[in-house]
Amino acid sequence: MQQSLAIINCSQVVTLAGPTRPRIGPELRELSIIANGGLLVRDGKIEHVGTTGEIESLVDSGCKVADAGGRVVLPGFVDAHTHPVFAGTRMDEFEERAGGTTYQEIAARGGGIQSTVRATRAATIDQLVAAAKRYAQWFLRGGTTTIEAKSGYGLSLEDELKILRAIKRVDKETPLRFVPTFLGAHDIPPEYRSRRNTYISLLIDEMLPRVSQEKLAEYCDVFCEEKVFTTEEAWKILSAARCHGLALRIHADQLSLSGGAKLAAELGAITADHLEHTDAEGIAALKSGGVQPVLLPGSVYALGSSRYPAARQMIDAGLPIVLATDFNPGSSPTPSMPMILSLAATHMKMSAAEAITATTINAAYSLNRGTQLGALEPGKIADFVIYDCDDYRELAYFFGVEHAWQVYSSGELAFSRTPKS
Ligand code: NIG
Ligand code: FE
Repeated sequence: MQQSLAIINCSQVVTLAGPTRPRIGPELRELSIIANGGLLVRDGKIEHVGTTGEIESLVDSGCKVADAGGRVVLPGFVDAHTHPVFAGTRMDEFEERAGGTTYQEIAARGGGIQSTVRATRAATIDQLVAAAKRYAQWFLRGGTTTIEAKSGYGLSLEDELKILRAIKRVDKETPLRFVPTFLGAHDIPPEYRSRRNTYISLLIDEMLPRVSQEKLAEYCDVFCEEKVFTTEEAWKILSAARCHGLALRIHADQLSLSGGAKLAAELGAITADHLEHTDAEGIAALKSGGVQPVLLPGSVYALGSSRYPAARQMIDAGLPIVLATDFNPGSSPTPSMPMILSLAATHMKMSAAEAITATTINAAYSLNRGTQLGALEPGKIADFVIYDCDDYRELAYFFGVEHAWQVYSSGELAFSRTPKS
C-alpha cells in the first residue's frame, strides 16, 4: 500500500512555488505563502499543497494526519557550500585569532587548512564517518535537508578518495542528502610546496580521472586565491575537470580580488563562491556568464571581518544569489542556516524572504536539483521543516534559537523536538 501523510493547520506554508528556474530581482521576495495551509505527501513526494480544508478533503483511510498546531512549514534548507568531512578542530587557532593573529598568518606558518589536512590524513574512514554523522545531525536539527559536501582536507589521491567515500557513506547512512564536490585543489600540500606544478599534474592526471571513474563527485572546486591557486592554475584544473564530466564551482575573491569571479564566467562555472572582494566588473562578468554567486557570511563573521559580499549590488544586477554556511573547521564552524539568515539581514541588508529564497530554491538550482528540491510543489521530494514559529520572518529575527520542531526528509521524520508518535 502507498504510504501517505497529511500535515494540516500550518499558519503559513511557505511554498516557494514559481518559475522553473532560479529567482532574481524582486522574485527573491515572492515566497508563494498559503495561509492556514497543509501538505499531502505520498511515497516520499509532495502530492498536494493547499489550504487545510483542501488537504483534509483529500485524506483517505490509510493516510496519517499530523496537526502542525499553527506552526510554519518551509522546504528544507539546501546548503550549497560545506566542508563537512574533517578530523579534529581548530579551537586553538580560534583562540589565537581572538588574540589578534590573522587567518592568513596562521596559514603561512603551516596551520589553517594544513593542520586539518594533517589530522584528516591520520584518521581512518570510520573516524571521519563518525565525525561527519555528528555534524549531519546538527545540519538536520537546523532545518537543512541537503548539503553540498566538498573534499579537500586530504590533498593526496588516497586521502581525497577516503573523504569522498566517507561522504558517500554518510549520505547513505543518514537522512541528510549529500551532493559531493572534489576539492583536491584546496591547497598545495607541504610535500609539493617547492614543486607546485607536480601537484597540479597529480590533480589532473591521477586524482580527477579516479574521482570521475568511481563517480565520487558531481562538481570540482578550486580555491583560487593569492598564495593558493592562481587563476591560470585554476583554469587548467577546472578545464580538466570539465573534460571528466564534472561541473564547476570556484572559491573566488574571498581574501583578495584575485579574478576568480571573472574566471568562473569564462569557464561557464555553475557557481562562484565567497566573492567578498568582487568588484562591479566581476559582478557584470557573473551576470554575463550565467554564474550563480554563493555568498558565505558565516565565514566573514567567524573570521572577525566586516567585509561582507555586496549582496544588494548582486541582486540589483539580476544575479540569482545563493546563501550557504561554508561549514568547515577553520573559517566557518557553523552548520546553522538560521544563523546565515540573521547575518544576511543584519550585514547584507537582505529581507528574510530574499534570504529564504537564496537558501532553498536558488540553492537547489545551483546543485542541479531545482526541479526536485527547494520548494513545496507537487512532484518534488518531500523535504520540509515545521518550525515553532507563527511567521517565517521569526527565523531571521530571533537569532540563536533552535526553531525547527520537526524535520522531514523524503516524507520521513528525520528530527523531532518532541517524541515520535
Ligand atoms: O571556504 N577558503 C577556503 N576554504 C574554506 C576554509 C577552509 C579552512 O579554513 O579549513 C573556506 O573558507
Ligand atoms: Fe569553502
